[in-house]
Amino acid sequence: MRNIDASTITPAVIARLAHTEDPRLKQILTSLVTHLHDFAREVSLTEDEWMQGIQFLTATGQKCDAKRQEFILLSDTLGLSMLVVAMNHAKPAGATEATVFGPFHVEDAPTMAQDADLATGAPGEPFFVKVHIHDLAGQPIAGAEVDVWQADDDGLYDVQRPELGDTRRARGVLHTGAAGTVRFRTVAPTAYPVPTDGPVGRMLLASGRHPWRPAHLHFRIRAPGFQTLVTHIFRSGDPYLDSDAVFGVRSSLISDYVRHDPGPAPDGTNLDVPFYTMDQTFRLAPAAAAG
Ligand code: BEZ
Ligand code: FE
Repeated sequence: MRNIDASTITPAVIARLAHTEDPRLKQILTSLVTHLHDFAREVSLTEDEWMQGIQFLTATGQKCDAKRQEFILLSDTLGLSMLVVAMNHAKPAGATEATVFGPFHVEDAPTMAQDADLATGAPGEPFFVKVHIHDLAGQPIAGAEVDVWQADDDGLYDVQRPELGDTRRARGVLHTGAAGTVRFRTVAPTAYPVPTDGPVGRMLLASGRHPWRPAHLHFRIRAPGFQTLVTHIFRSGDPYLDSDAVFGVRSSLISDYVRHDPGPAPDGTNLDVPFYTMDQTFRLAPAAAAG
């Protein structure tokens, strides 16, 4: 095909996709081309602007390494991550809602015993967490894996502290027993800014947006026969609950982190500093029946 112009280019590209074997890939590529072309036409994209766009995407890729995922951050701050979560995790009534995974989970978090201190040296106020894993009928789920990760009092994840190397802290994996419960000690998370020292930070600045996320604990809960739940529990009263930089807050995921004066703590120790407690129940949806 010759003499292609701004209106014939889109069907020309789509025609070249005719032999794509995988029908789903063909559908996705066709739609992507259609929307990308429409976007360029709608904003009358100049060559200079598209070159800036290419440089932005290049810088986003170059910022990625084993501990930094700038593309996830881009997807998160553009609301795409939360859109994909919302479309794919419509839960039955009563099931705990999902939210964004974020870039700071690691697969090699240490396995922790009941009542362990996940903080293992991370700075922050003591926080005692009790988590119940139930099915939709309110029955406890035994043998569930509860993977927890969080930022410390400085708003940093362990993977954001080069001085820690591969040392893991303020994260861990626990397993429920017959009562469907896990208990652990950690530090109370605080609000923190998503990383702003890369292209995504420049994008937030250029659009007059703040980079803050309200304080939260991350959870990934897996149990045989149930849908995996990836979610957070946010801290009530946090000033960023209505302006989360990654659009991840759901009202049902906000909980009271109850403050206690110095004194006897849930683990039997006597603390000379204030501490916090939280009691949270997660309800898992059953795995989809095989079709
Ligand atoms: C997080 O909560 O860890 C997170 C999520 C999205 C972007 C950056 C951080
Ligand atoms: Fe987080």
